[in-house]
Amino acid sequence: MKTNKLLYVIFLSLTVLCFVEKATGSEKSALKDVFKDYFLIGGAFNHNLVSGEDPNAAEIAIKHFNTATSENDMKWSLIHPRPDQYNWEPADHFVDFTEKNNMVPIGHCLVWHSQVPRWTFRDDSGNQLTRDALLARMKDHITTVVGRYKGRVKGWDVVNEALNDDGTLRNSRWLQIIGEGKPEQQYDYIAKAFEYAHQADPDAELYYNDYSLSTDKEKCDGAVEIVKYLKSKGLRIDGVGIQLHAGLDYPDKESLEYCINTLAATGVKVMVTELDIRTQRRGYRGADISRINRQNTSDPNAASAEIQKKLADKYAEIFSILLKHKKVITRVTFWGVYDRTSWIRWGSPLLFDRNYKPKQAFDAVINTVQADM
Ligand code: XIL
Repeated sequence: MKTNKLLYVIFLSLTVLCFVEKATGSEKSALKDVFKDYFLIGGAFNHNLVSGEDPNAAEIAIKHFNTATSENDMKWSLIHPRPDQYNWEPADHFVDFTEKNNMVPIGHCLVWHSQVPRWTFRDDSGNQLTRDALLARMKDHITTVVGRYKGRVKGWDVVNEALNDDGTLRNSRWLQIIGEGKPEQQYDYIAKAFEYAHQADPDAELYYNDYSLSTDKEKCDGAVEIVKYLKSKGLRIDGVGIQLHAGLDYPDKESLEYCINTLAATGVKVMVTELDIRTQRRGYRGADISRINRQNTSDPNAASAEIQKKLADKYAEIFSILLKHKKVITRVTFWGVYDRTSWIRWGSPLLFDRNYKPKQAFDAVINTVQADM
């Protein structure tokens, strides 16, 4: 009787274990193994993942990814909330976690118009800083942050989202103050950011990163102009990050290929830095945070078989193009790990669902490699 009970308990435990295993997809191949001959593959990590508060997400990340980007904790307003105060702990956790798990850590981001405190652009009396004072502040921030992780963070998104969708430069505080309205100074803030980052860690790779590069050709051309300008000044730029916040029907193949080819022609590496696919059919297509936040994004049909099939097809299409350009694409990073913590609050944007389960899209992505062989 006792033995029977024991056997029953063992049987039950094994069944539960099998279910949990299946639920997090541990029987599936690891993305990083499947893509090892092509490019690094990774995700954006939030603080819960790296601090141990979301162990299932960490398990997925450790199994599948060999590179990671800090989702928020290295942004100016989080890492440098007040003029004389740096908040290192979350970013330290991120870098420690990636090192412990043999992942290439990417720093995101040094200069951006969003998630930057208001004080950044003002002096102690609240007046707008002069060009020189803002350059000094930018230098101090970059030197301190890049310097802290020197030799550890492999590459930095130095400037994020400097472009409008038509390829002109976004009228950010950075451009207004450092550019002083003079056309000949318009690229100065970008050039200085790259110069300071290189001084702080001469071995780190330096990237320009933006969204809609693969949907708006003019914007992609604008990124090319940035690369050319930096190169003409003898500054280091290693790569351009195509964020690739996609939708079920964009970008189309032709514009994605145009973007990869045009960027690669400048001689830089091309990276997909923030991949996800919105399943909502209506609404704004870009990735401007203020517009995304204002949008009603509820998506009741996201889990339906029809949408999941479309999602799998779109992921497969994107990956087959990325594989075709494997010579110039060095990294593909998803913006998140599983749907519940994605910045796209509703819908079904990633490869793992809200319960950590791999979706049909996961298998579709793996299958693109077999098709490529
Ligand atoms: C997003 C984060 O995912 C959110 O958690 C945060 O609230 C806002 O920023 N482009 C970028 C990323 O370069 O930094 C943004 O990340 C998404 C769009």
